Amino acid sequence: MSLSIRQIHPVFVGEVSGVDCREPLGPAVVAAIEAGMDQYAVLVFRDQRITDEQQLAFTRQFGKLESYATPGHIKQANESRLAPGMADFSNLDKSGGIMSDQDRVWFFKLADRLWHSDSSFRPVPAKYSLLSGRVLPSWGANTEFADMRAAYDALDARTKAEVEQLVCLHSLLFSREAIGFTEMTAEEKAAFHPVRQPLVRNHPVTGRRSLFLSAHAGAIEGWTVPESRMFLRDLTEFTTQPAFVYSHEWRPFDLVVWDNRQTMHRARRFDRNEVRDVRRTTLAGDGILAGLASS
Ligand SMILES: [Fe+2]
Repeated sequence: MSLSIRQIHPVFVGEVSGVDCREPLGPAVVAAIEAGMDQYAVLVFRDQRITDEQQLAFTRQFGKLESYATPGHIKQANESRLAPGMADFSNLDKSGGIMSDQDRVWFFKLADRLWHSDSSFRPVPAKYSLLSGRVLPSWGANTEFADMRAAYDALDARTKAEVEQLVCLHSLLFSREAIGFTEMTAEEKAAFHPVRQPLVRNHPVTGRRSLFLSAHAGAIEGWTVPESRMFLRDLTEFTTQPAFVYSHEWRPFDLVVWDNRQTMHRARRFDRNEVRDVRRTTLAGDGILAGLASS
């Protein structure tokens, strides 16, 4: 059976058939999936009963795994339930039990329900994220995606001109502060030092422009914080209107791959007393602007 992709939303998102993600793909299939990613920005692979090792091997066929030279979490590496390279997006702790609702790691995770682009808080933000749904709760827990290219195209001319040269500061501190989680240690605050990212970016293959928004963006260079936050909030509201959003209803063993350079996403609520075991691998992108912010 050969690979085919069916578009499942009016502006983006493809459902792929004819691929077994457990097997090595070969260059033609890798190229076809990459072309699909460039076009659809999100690809859904159904019924992929992969192990962590197979997920890592599948991911590496599309580039280099993101390295964690800078931390992306308050959880220490030795607290992880999963092997290196696998990011745990479950609600389980190291022992496999459901995390306490008083756990700082849980507080930290809750901010994934804000619209964001993965690792926009790193100097080199993420290219693709690959999320495998292993155990899913009985209600809720959709992942929603917004097409930042279609949203950019729909901006009025004045706003397009206004965003053109803007640079934002991104940090995990900003996204956590937005949900009222501000109790960070001095060490965590230092580790989550803001980085600079352009507000408009061009896709390296297609050249399509998109807005590089994220809940991690907390300021615009040269603007006051209140003015920045209100403009970023307005833009986020505009770009996440229903016409640009796909809501993924998970089935067990779905593998969903998204391009963080062209989309934002958010997790949705579920019953925290039920297990949600989803596991992510992440590919490194390219640095867009040089240097860290000075503030
Ligand atoms: Fe995310």
